[in-house]
Amino acid sequence: MHDSIERVLLTEDQIKTRIEELGRELAADYADKNPIFVGILKGVVIFFADIVRAVPIPCQFDFMAVSSYSGTNSTGIIKVKKDLSADIEGRHVVILEDILDSGLTLKYTTEYLKSKNPASVKICTFLDKPERRQSDIVADYIGFTVPNLFVVGYGLDYDEEYRNLPYVGVLKPEAYTK
Ligand code: IMP
Ligand code: MG
Repeated sequence: MHDSIERVLLTEDQIKTRIEELGRELAADYADKNPIFVGILKGVVIFFADIVRAVPIPCQFDFMAVSSYSGTNSTGIIKVKKDLSADIEGRHVVILEDILDSGLTLKYTTEYLKSKNPASVKICTFLDKPERRQSDIVADYIGFTVPNLFVVGYGLDYDEEYRNLPYVGVLKPEAYTK
C-alpha cells in the first residue's frame, strides 16, 4: 500500500465486481440508444475506461473539464475549462463522473448539457457522498455510496496526486499539506 494511505475503502476486486454489475445495467438500459458518454475530466478517466469496456453496445465518447475545486474544498465557482466536441442534440447522454459531492459541479454540468437539446441526460457516478449535498442532484447510476470522508485513488486526487492508485483510500492526516 502507498505510504500516505491510512486505509483502503474500496479494493480493486470490489471495484471490478461493481463495475461489471453497473455495466450490465447500463448495457440493458442503453442497448438500442447509441448513447454518448460524457466524461468529466480529470477524475473520471480511470472509471471511464473501465465502465465503457463493461458496456458492450454501440456508443460514443466525449469529455468536458469543469472545475470548482482546489485542495479539499469546493469554491462553488464553476468554470468550463474544456467544452464538448460533439453535437449532442437529440442524443442520449450519460454523464460519467468520479464523485458526486456537493453536487454543484453536476448541477451546473447537467443544466449546461440539457441546454443543447439532447434526447436525455442521465448521471452515472463512480462514488456518491450524499452527506455533503448542497443541490438537488441525484445520480441515476451509482458505483458506491461513501461516507463523508475525503478519498483518493482510482482517478480521484488530492492536489493532483494519487490518481493512479488502483483502489480508493483515505489519506493519513500528515499527507494533507494544503
Ligand atoms: P461537487 O461539485 O462538490 O459535487 O464536486 C465534485 C468534484 O469534487 C469531483 O468531481 C472531484 O473532483 C472533487 N471531489 C469531491 N470529493 C472528493 C474526494 O473525496 N476526493 C477527491 N476529489 C473529490
Ligand atoms: Mg472531478
